[in-house]
Amino acid sequence: MLDITFAKPALPKSGALVLLMGEGEQPSGVWQQADEATGGGIARALKAAEFKGAKGKTCTILAPGAGLSRVVAVGIGKPAELTAHVLNEAGGHAAGAVLREANAAIATGMLQPAQAAEVALGAALRTYRFDKYRTKEKPEDKPKLAKLTLLTSEPPRAKSAWDPLLGVARGIFISRDLVSEPPNVLNPAEMADRCRKLSELGLKVDVLGPREMAKLGFGALLGVSQGSVCEPRMVVMQWNGVSGNARKSKGKPVAFIGKGVTFDTGGISIKPAGGMEDMKWDMAGAGTVIGLMAALAGRKAKVDAVGLVGLVENMPSGSAQRPGDVVKSYSGQTIEVINTDAEGRLVLADVLWYCQEKFDPRFMVDLATLTGAMIVALGHEYAGMFSNDDTLASRLEAVGKSTNEKLWRLPLDDAYDKLIRSDIADMKNIGGRPAGSISAAQFIQRFVNKKPWAHLDIAGMAWSTRDAPTIPKGATAFGVRLLDRLVAEHYEG
Ligand code: BES
Ligand code: MN
Ligand code: ZN
Repeated sequence: MLDITFAKPALPKSGALVLLMGEGEQPSGVWQQADEATGGGIARALKAAEFKGAKGKTCTILAPGAGLSRVVAVGIGKPAELTAHVLNEAGGHAAGAVLREANAAIATGMLQPAQAAEVALGAALRTYRFDKYRTKEKPEDKPKLAKLTLLTSEPPRAKSAWDPLLGVARGIFISRDLVSEPPNVLNPAEMADRCRKLSELGLKVDVLGPREMAKLGFGALLGVSQGSVCEPRMVVMQWNGVSGNARKSKGKPVAFIGKGVTFDTGGISIKPAGGMEDMKWDMAGAGTVIGLMAALAGRKAKVDAVGLVGLVENMPSGSAQRPGDVVKSYSGQTIEVINTDAEGRLVLADVLWYCQEKFDPRFMVDLATLTGAMIVALGHEYAGMFSNDDTLASRLEAVGKSTNEKLWRLPLDDAYDKLIRSDIADMKNIGGRPAGSISAAQFIQRFVNKKPWAHLDIAGMAWSTRDAPTIPKGATAFGVRLLDRLVAEHYEG
């Protein structure tokens, strides 16, 4: 991760300088010093570029003099409209404009120290890169940015605001690393091993293998994994942040559950070849839960939280599950498997039930790249949300807005539940083409035992095909910031 420090405002003598500018803001501080040291060069360039500080606009001035390699103006828009998200994006634009420099400073101008920390977060997130399998990239083609200094009036205050954000950034990087890994490397056992390593952060990590899950009666999860030579795993991560034994009445943890299909071929109901490689990120729900648990531990959140992930590979083979099979879930309910490609709900069914039996949580949020129909409905802008609890749903919706990890609530209804009735078992695992994301959510709800619950279908959000200010293309870690804020704003202290 990029080395980030905070210092008092002073004009750097070399390297790159980023100036954050609000709309209508007049030059002062480092901005003014840079302009004077370059003989008015900054003002002339901004005027020529018609740069006025509009949100998201940038203007790069190469070699303006005064020893600086470049000065980049980044617009942050109207002061009244400054949210954490705007500040994160400004940091992302800033980092994006100086990636080719080894050292850069960002003058945060009129911003408060805590706002400077949000700029730092955006910059850090922008510099994420998964390049461990590139052996032939020339050094000059690699981004060089290694050290970033934020110039702010009160560096110690900015630093204390940054410390927890650094924990969150690290969690996001862990999630992106997992989701980016190819499926031959990241199978369920490897993914579980990487979870084990997070005990370094103070998480309690327990891993269950196929024999333990068989003993418990995880017929739904094990049916999905039985076609693969890779063994399944369930990982249970616990973060106990409510201090020591003071934890009595508050004993119930908050719970997060993730779909972790390390590769989804569809099984015997096999997918077409085109684009199947995308199904390496069918473990993104689990990736988010793991990154979130790392973030909560990393920033020492004052909450008791559990994160559970069901890890399987969905393969066709002589031992694979067949369409028509009936399996018995851990809850005791039976399921007719009509389509082996509707596997995520089968995995979640057993993990959700286990979560409730074992932890009796305050609420559960599950995340899954569950349905292609979700992408048809909402594209790549909003994740779908389904919930049996209006309080939880409205809290999630609000933190979705503030983190820009947006959620759109869709209905649950008995009328949709009828779609998954089976002639032979308690339910079937698909409901047909109409309302495909909703019938999937109805299926999952059958494994929710009178607990506040929300299901986030992140099929359209887990992977991005283009660079965004704080999200380089590839794994997004969608949901880590969202759920970290949910915990911070409603379930801590
Ligand atoms: N993992 C897929 C859903 C998916 C598709 C996520 C594309 C991201 C991008 C899921 O397991 C699946 O295959 N769902 C089927 C369900 C159908 C068989 C009812 C789908 O969406 O086609
Ligand atoms: Mn599938
Ligand atoms: Zn899947």
